[in-house]
Amino acid sequence: MGIELTINGEKHTLEVAEDTPLLWAIRDHLHLTGTKYGCGMAQCGACTVHLNGNAIRSCVTPVGSVAGQNVTTIEGVNSRVAKAVQTSWDDKAVVQCGYCQSGQIMSAVALLESNPAPSDEDIDNFMSGNICRCSTYVRIRAAIKDAATKLA
Ligand code: FES
Ligand code: FES
Repeated sequence: MGIELTINGEKHTLEVAEDTPLLWAIRDHLHLTGTKYGCGMAQCGACTVHLNGNAIRSCVTPVGSVAGQNVTTIEGVNSRVAKAVQTSWDDKAVVQCGYCQSGQIMSAVALLESNPAPSDEDIDNFMSGNICRCSTYVRIRAAIKDAATKLA
């Protein structure tokens, strides 16, 4: 019997083992490749998706543990907050190589959904699990503040 997943509002039944990482299901079975593999050990944040609106690391999340719950990836995130974040990311020209950025955006959206006016410290604490090899941290912080201003 397959595992039922709801990804970006669509139901899927996957014939995979329950302990398969959610990241593999998203990328290899559903071909949603915007979510990236970085470390595979919950250390870099490249694989961040939302589970019922909360940011999680899909590389260490067994697919069986999220059956029947709502998973959102970078391809499906489209709330008012998400649109503001994506606009601010463009306005502040955050992206360099881009590899970490879908995870950064998913974390930034989760931050602003729970804290609409974060301080620099709030941003640094919340985003500390998202690593950027290109060191775009200053622009990420500026974009999050810009999005918070747009949404206020
Ligand atoms: S790939 Fe999941 S945290 Fe690095
Ligand atoms: S933009 Fe290159 S790793 Fe973050």
